[in-house]
Amino acid sequence: MSEDKYPSESGRRRFVKGVVGSAALAGVGVGGASSVNLATQPTGGGGGPTPFVGITNTGGPAPRGMPYIPLELDDEGYLRGVWPEAETVTEAGQTYDVARTELGGQTYSSEWFQYCGRQQAAGVQPAADQDNYFQSVGSPSYNWQAEELSEGDRLRLDHFEDYETWGNEIGDEGVGKPAETTWRSQGTEGVLPVTLIRSKRIEEKANQGGEVGEWYSAASVQGTIAYLNVCTHFCCVPGYKDSPDSPQYNAENGIYCQCHQSTYDPFEPSFETFIALPRPD
Ligand code: FES
Repeated sequence: MSEDKYPSESGRRRFVKGVVGSAALAGVGVGGASSVNLATQPTGGGGGPTPFVGITNTGGPAPRGMPYIPLELDDEGYLRGVWPEAETVTEAGQTYDVARTELGGQTYSSEWFQYCGRQQAAGVQPAADQDNYFQSVGSPSYNWQAEELSEGDRLRLDHFEDYETWGNEIGDEGVGKPAETTWRSQGTEGVLPVTLIRSKRIEEKANQGGEVGEWYSAASVQGTIAYLNVCTHFCCVPGYKDSPDSPQYNAENGIYCQCHQSTYDPFEPSFETFIALPRPD
């Protein structure tokens, strides 16, 4: 059983940079969201009211959850994010590209990730040529990951083998084992930070039926989920079981955003609609 410590110094520095950078982005994001007009947005950008499934926002100023990324497993045991085939659609007088499919009873699309400046990331382009594997970050917050993986290594399901017992010094053991990754970001400017977690809680919910069960049985792989780790408040990068401050906000077994104390529950899906921002293309 690994004994992970608090986030490394590099993790904290990354956080501070995130705060500064996100302040500018947030101004764009909030204004853009409220002024999106389907009749005047640039052709090819997509955006507008978008139903999505996210991890649930449980506290703080964040307005909604962070979007899940449905998972699949390849023949060699590597985890991959689902990215639907890109298509050109015409809706409400607009012609634009979108990667969209029906999955787990929901409409999953590339527009789920068009917020907080990520609508400008190359990987969010519906037709962007990416392999959809998750790559380990260079300075992960978790000791197991720093010891076993180098920057750029792909994540496999068996990296999470001890998920039923794994723990660190934050919260309880056996809640769920995480990894910090990037996705659809290889060789591009705009990074998409993604957290993977494997947990018994997801396995149980995937078997429970109903809307939640249908979603998890389609979007998770053997109890493993992924979500875009960009706070919907002012776009910081939150942490799962990685902050000594999180117990004050009842988030030691969940996700805590150090910027303004928003909290999220990665094991509870919320079915919501938000205003996706148009891509600049
Ligand atoms: S950016 Fe404000 S709570 Fe996360």
